[in-house]
Amino acid sequence: MAKGKTVFYCQSCGYESAKWMGQCPGCREWNTFVEEPVIASGSSHRKLTAARREEPTLLSKVSRENNCRISTEIQEFDRVLGGGIVSGSMVLVGGDPGIGKSTLLLQMCLLLVSKNHKVLYISGEESLQQIKIRADRLGDYSGDLMMLCETDLEAIQEVIERIKPELVIIDSIQTMCKSDVSSAPGSVSQVRESTGVFMKIAKTLGVTVFIVGHVTKEGVVAGPRVLEHMVDTVLYFEGERHAAYRILRSVKNRFGSTNEIGVFEMGQSGLKEVLNPSQYLLDGRPEGASGSVVACLMEGTRPVMVEVQALVCRTNFNMPRRTAAGMDYNRVNLLMAVIEKRLGLSLANWDAYINIAGGMKLNAPALDLAVVTAIISSYKDLPIDEKTVIFGEVGLSGEVRGVSMAVQCVQEAKKLGFEKCILPKVNAAGIDKGGIELIGVANLRELVSKFI
Ligand code: TYD
Ligand code: MG
Repeated sequence: MAKGKTVFYCQSCGYESAKWMGQCPGCREWNTFVEEPVIASGSSHRKLTAARREEPTLLSKVSRENNCRISTEIQEFDRVLGGGIVSGSMVLVGGDPGIGKSTLLLQMCLLLVSKNHKVLYISGEESLQQIKIRADRLGDYSGDLMMLCETDLEAIQEVIERIKPELVIIDSIQTMCKSDVSSAPGSVSQVRESTGVFMKIAKTLGVTVFIVGHVTKEGVVAGPRVLEHMVDTVLYFEGERHAAYRILRSVKNRFGSTNEIGVFEMGQSGLKEVLNPSQYLLDGRPEGASGSVVACLMEGTRPVMVEVQALVCRTNFNMPRRTAAGMDYNRVNLLMAVIEKRLGLSLANWDAYINIAGGMKLNAPALDLAVVTAIISSYKDLPIDEKTVIFGEVGLSGEVRGVSMAVQCVQEAKKLGFEKCILPKVNAAGIDKGGIELIGVANLRELVSKFI
């Protein structure tokens, strides 16, 4: 029997190679190359376009009609999607196992069918009974959802073409399997081929497709990175497993901003929206403890307040230990270097542990000033007044730089009953002072001489 052509794919990032390799040059993982057959493609596609003879359309003649958005009926979800589901788009929802992807999508489907939308939920992981049990936990909804437990792509394609739903959910792309691809479900070729099929369905029939994708231990969607390039929107559902709340974040969105987050709380009857995340994140904050500071920063169009904690203590080893949970480790090292050099504090013999309380992951520069304050507060063991909010970017020479949308942050602080706000001097000038004491600082020396 003639051997078909094969190539090797990295199962972690989708890197393609003619030869087997021990280490992937793309993602530096070891032993991830697996041999998979080459799939002949392109011939039928080319014939089709030649026969159809498409004419270019003038941009001004394109109507926006078919770009209308459907609300998911979940405000936080809509916000992350950029104002609702764009029909005919393809959305990838990634996240750790058990984080609540299936729950979120099932809840959305139930809300949509109760608003008379035609929705098809395809599960390749769970049986109808299992989904029924979950749906019962979520509460009573009117309307009926169409369900299908199937992993075979041809069968699924046939059903979608026959039923023509508005919205299709594919619960996990890693279980889908195209019969003419000989590799196992979840492999790079299978995932890529299946996504291609769904993309064609989405674009030709105008069906919106939501795809669930599993996440590898590094936190990227398992299978090829190409998956992320193919879809219109990539959302990540994340959170600490022991904490009740979950954050839906968009990392790619062709129809909206990518820095919006949606906050949910997992409870006995499914996910509940958290419309005021600041209040939620600040619950249970210690009072009068050193090293605890409240920061405010923008997540998309919404200000969010978080507690930044620092613990600085004497090191017992030659090398001080530093950890950062919830923010960039290198940024913490950089800020500590700035403190040493510009304020003359010697931190070389001190361990430092930084934590963003509540398991949020943030990397906005507006957090810098709060981190610096928390470190100094813990080092000197002097608590910061708990009714104070701090935000601002810190530069390498110890200057405090302005941040965008400071007005919203100050308003949020006022709303939550804070009395003092330490912010960059440039921002302080243009903000109405009513109801809150604004203290502008231009550099770290000023910060320390005034507060710590
Ligand atoms: P699931 O939605 O199946 O996650 P994924 O599809 O991302 O793997 O996970 C649901 C988890 O949430 C599971 O551990 C049980 C829990 N859960 C609740 O706490 N309350 C609920 O109402 C439901 C439906 C699930
Ligand atoms: Mg699931």
